[in-house]
Order: sequence, then structure tokens, then C-alpha cells
Amino acid sequence: MVQYSDELKEEIRQANDIVDVVSQYVTLKRSGRNYFGLCPFHKEKSPSFSVSPDRQYYHCFGCNKGGDVFTFVADIEKISFKEAMEMLAERAKIELPTSDDPELNKRQYMRSRMYAINADTAIFYHERLYKPLAKIAQDYVKKRHLDNKTLKAFKIGYSGEYNDLYKFLKAKGYKDNEILATGLVNKNDRGEFIDRFRKRLMFPIMDVSGKVVAFGGRKLDENEKVAKYINSNENLVYSKKRHLFALNLAKQSDAKNIILVEGYMDAISLHQRGINNVVASLGTALTDEQARLLRKYSEQIILSYDSDGAGQEAIRRGIEILEAQGCDARVLQMEGAKDPDEFIIKYGTAKFNKLVENAISLTEFKIKMLKQKYNLDNPQDKVKFLREVTILLSKIDNSIEREIYIDKFALNYDISKDAIYSEVNKILYKKGKPKEEVLDKKIPNLSKEGEENKIDASVLKRENMIIYLLVNNPVETYNTLIEKISENYFKNEHNKQAFSIIKSVEKADIESINKAISNIEDPDFQNHISEIMLSDYEITSIDKCVEDILSTYNKSILQERKSEILKKLDDEKVTDEEKNQLMKELNDIIIKLANRK
Ligand code: GTP
Ligand code: MN
Repeated sequence: MVQYSDELKEEIRQANDIVDVVSQYVTLKRSGRNYFGLCPFHKEKSPSFSVSPDRQYYHCFGCNKGGDVFTFVADIEKISFKEAMEMLAERAKIELPTSDDPELNKRQYMRSRMYAINADTAIFYHERLYKPLAKIAQDYVKKRHLDNKTLKAFKIGYSGEYNDLYKFLKAKGYKDNEILATGLVNKNDRGEFIDRFRKRLMFPIMDVSGKVVAFGGRKLDENEKVAKYINSNENLVYSKKRHLFALNLAKQSDAKNIILVEGYMDAISLHQRGINNVVASLGTALTDEQARLLRKYSEQIILSYDSDGAGQEAIRRGIEILEAQGCDARVLQMEGAKDPDEFIIKYGTAKFNKLVENAISLTEFKIKMLKQKYNLDNPQDKVKFLREVTILLSKIDNSIEREIYIDKFALNYDISKDAIYSEVNKILYKKGKPKEEVLDKKIPNLSKEGEENKIDASVLKRENMIIYLLVNNPVETYNTLIEKISENYFKNEHNKQAFSIIKSVEKADIESINKAISNIEDPDFQNHISEIMLSDYEITSIDKCVEDILSTYNKSILQERKSEILKKLDDEKVTDEEKNQLMKELNDIIIKLANRK
């Protein structure tokens, strides 16, 4: 086996700065002398992976992996130390002495033969597409609106029948074992060689450098009961979890992101219409390796999965995998078409670009999913929805990001920002998170004239609770509360207004009350109501709650009357007779209040 000398190893090491190499896989941020990032070897949310440019060494404090540039590449590419050296030598354009290991030689030779077979096969299929015998494929590509430039750029082809490819490859001088190794031809029980792909539209799959590593073939007759697509099996040069269709083209794009689609046709169709930063995952779930590959070429990845297909779960997983590799992953939302191919044909490039621009983040996506779970016209559902959203928002670690979402969410769902801030803070505080406060702008309680009207927090809470109960549980509370409480009791103008609206509904049920409340267009009013709806009053028994409210209400009425009397007693103009009357009343009140302790 060729032993690379220590000198050569040093030369390769010198030529590959560890920060540069690691940066191809991990987003690093400088902090002091070292760089930090999310460890690529284990899942983590906060960076514990560090790289030292001085020592040319990396270490993860989370999973304890560490080493030099060679072990890093070997670990991350899942290759041997020696292969890592070869890879880094190639990266630095350092020539290596050729191997004298017969086994290694054999494998390397086989790989090179397979690449050659794949390349020749792509040409064979592609040229066949233009022959008269390919009428069915020609009609099909026309039907799919693929133009000639696209057919050339993607080397789209038409496969043969029976063993056409095998005969072609044999005539080119390839040996049976080499041909079989590619999986493009199989040997059956009777010892006959049969092409794997027959009468299919062929899509060569290329690696990042543009070498053909595999093929996908689409059936042309929809009525035929065979798989719509078949692909090459995995082999020495092809591992499906490590490749992405069209990445060789997308990597040349100078767009600021890469769009990830599911199908061959989606990628091809978008490329044809000028969107050249598109790759396809070919229907399988996105892998860590693919995410890492994408991260090498772009930080921002836009997921554009079929609207009906993969489903929300696949999108969520996809984003999480991408984010674990340090990508800024977003979801493109598409309506009116089942996939990007159909969309761009129907609505054009500009509309598709708009969708890309408006792609949403995972948090927004999750909120959207939650929204679908609930009926927001139903106040109970709305409360649950808001609560789930605040839990979600409180999970965002970055406070600036969190604030942006809160603002956005408040705007989109017309909910008071402050209500969300206070709920999020509550959760953060409960969790015992670091004391980093969410920006919490206190709104003063404004009276009609706009001047500040200081209301005791406990008083306001009680008022809010009355409105909350009336809106959410009118059946149990309406009669008692409306009958016993006077409108003038409310210090907060919005509560007063809400109470009088509720009081005047014709039917005291949830629906009518909500309708009446939502008829008020004043945004301050609506903000206030949503803040109430978002609060958690920890009500265990409604009856007990009503009882408490009424008891406090009565007490406050007595107290108010007491201060009124005291004021009047001070008044010079009050007659002695009146004073006597007031003293008697005051006495009663004092006794009543005392009895309530
Ligand atoms: P069209 O129907 O031609 O528009 O194809 P598409 O590219 O839109 O495919 P679709 O959305 O149905 O599926 C996405 C991808 O999943 C395809 O491009 C294939 O890579 C893969 N796929 C779909 N059907 C099959 C199948 O039957 N077998 C295999 N192995 N892969 C499939
Ligand atoms: Mn399609």
C-alpha cells in the first residue's frame, strides 16, 4: 500500500487551513482567538463546537469529538483517513504518488470505468431522443413543454428496448462485470443481459462536478402499470442520500439561495424558465448529507415541496435537518398548483419569484399549521391557538428574532403585541430562562380624553376577568353579572364599552356576544379584548369566580360610597340634618365592610 510520507502529509496539512475546511461544512463565528459553530457530529441548538486557527485543531465540548483537518474530513465525509488526505490533496492541488496497492487500484479502476460507462450511456440515451424511433418520447417532452436547450442542458434522453444499451456498451469495449457494476444492465436467470431502463424518458443524475453517477427514468405511457419513475441502484459511484439532482447547475447560480424541490420535472421546468438555483431531492426524505452539501453552496435554502405530496411533516423535518446544518431554511407556499412545475407553467417566472421572496420560516410555518387546527372564529379555539403560539414563540432562543416574530404575529392575527409579550415572558420566566427580558412596552390605560388614568393592576385584572367570563361562559355568568354589576363600575374605558355591548345583545350566547364585540372597529379596543382573551386567569370554578367577583364588586361599591360620604361630611355647605343622615349611613357601611373582613 502506498504510504504517504510524513513530509507529504505535512504539506497537505499546511495547504488546508482548518478554518477554511471546516467552514465548508459548518457556519463559524469568530469569538476571541477561536471560531465557534454548531457541531456537525451531533444535534445541538447552541454552539459547542470550536476551531482553533492557531493550533489547527477542532473540538466539540458537547460530543467530545476533536482532531485535526484530516480527522475532520474523514469524520464528516465518512471516509478513511487516507481518503481524507487524498481529498485534501486534491483540494490543494497537490499531486499524490499513484497507488501500488492492487486492491485499491482495482477499486479506483472500477470507479473510473463506471464513470465512463455512465457518461457514454447518457450520450447514448440523449442521441436516441432525436431519432425517429423516439417519437413517443418526443411527443412527451413537447407535452411537458421542455425546449431543446433544456433537453441539451440536462442531457435528457430516451432509453432503448430490451438490451440496446448493453449491445452499445459492449461495442464500446466495456466488460460485463463493469457494465453490471453500474446497474444499468442486469443479468437474468437465463444468463441474458437486459437493460434496466426500457422505453423511458431518461434523466442523468450528476454529481457536483458534473460527472454522471446515476439515472432516473420516467414512464411515458401513463396507462402502463409500472412505477412512474425508476432510478439507478446505489453503487460504487452513487449513493442517493449524498446526491442532489441539478446541484451541478445550481451551484453556478449567483442567487442568494437554493430552492429545493421534490421532482426531476420541477427542477428542470424551473431551470428552463430562468430559475437556475434549483435542486431536487428526488422524492426521498432530505438527508443530513444532502443538507450539508446544500449548506456548502448556500446558507438560505427554500423548500418548495408539492402542495399535496410530501405533507407538512416532511416539510417540518426537512427544515429541521437543514437548520441543524446551519441553514436558514424557509418554506415556499404555493396555491393553485400541485407542484412547482405546474405552477410556473400556469403563472410564470415572476409569480414564482414572488413566492420565493415570500417564503416563510419554520416558526411561521408552524403557526400556520396551528391555525389550520383551530377555528379562529370560536373564542375558545382562539384562546387555545394563541396559547400554543406563545409557547412556540417563547422557544425562539434569539431575542431579536423572537421580537420580530411577535410583532409580525400581532400584526397578522390582529392581536395586542403587549398581550403576546407578557404571555411569552410568563413562559420564559417559568422556564427559568436567563433573565433576558423581552421588550415589554407598557401601554398606559388611556381614558377617553387620552390622558393617563392610573388603574390599579388588581382592579384592571378583575374587570378583565368579568369581560372574559361574559365572552367565554355567558350561559353560566351572564344573568348574574349583568344584573348585579353597573356599567359605571368599570374604570377602563374599553371594559366599560365591552360590558355595555354585551349587556345590549339580544341573545346572550357566545356567538352573538362575539359578533357584537367584533363589530367594534377601534383597533385599541380589539387589542384590549385580545389581550384579555390571551390571559390565563386560572379559573377552576366559574361559580366560585362569579361569587368572588360579586363580593369584591359589592365591597368596592361600599368603599366608594364611604369615600363619597367622607368627602361630603367635610363640605361646609352640608346641613346638620344631612350630616346626621350621612353619619348613620357611614356607620352601616363601616360595619358591613368589617363583616367582610
Ligand atoms: P411528473 O409526474 O413527471 O411531473 O414528475 P415529478 O417530478 O413532479 O414527480 P412527483 O412529484 O410525482 O415525485 C417527485 C419525485 O419522486 C420524482 O421526481 C421521482 O424522483 C420520485 N418518484 C416519483 N414517483 C416515483 C416512483 O414510482 N418510484 C421512484 N423510485 N421514485 C418516484
Ligand atoms: Mn410533477
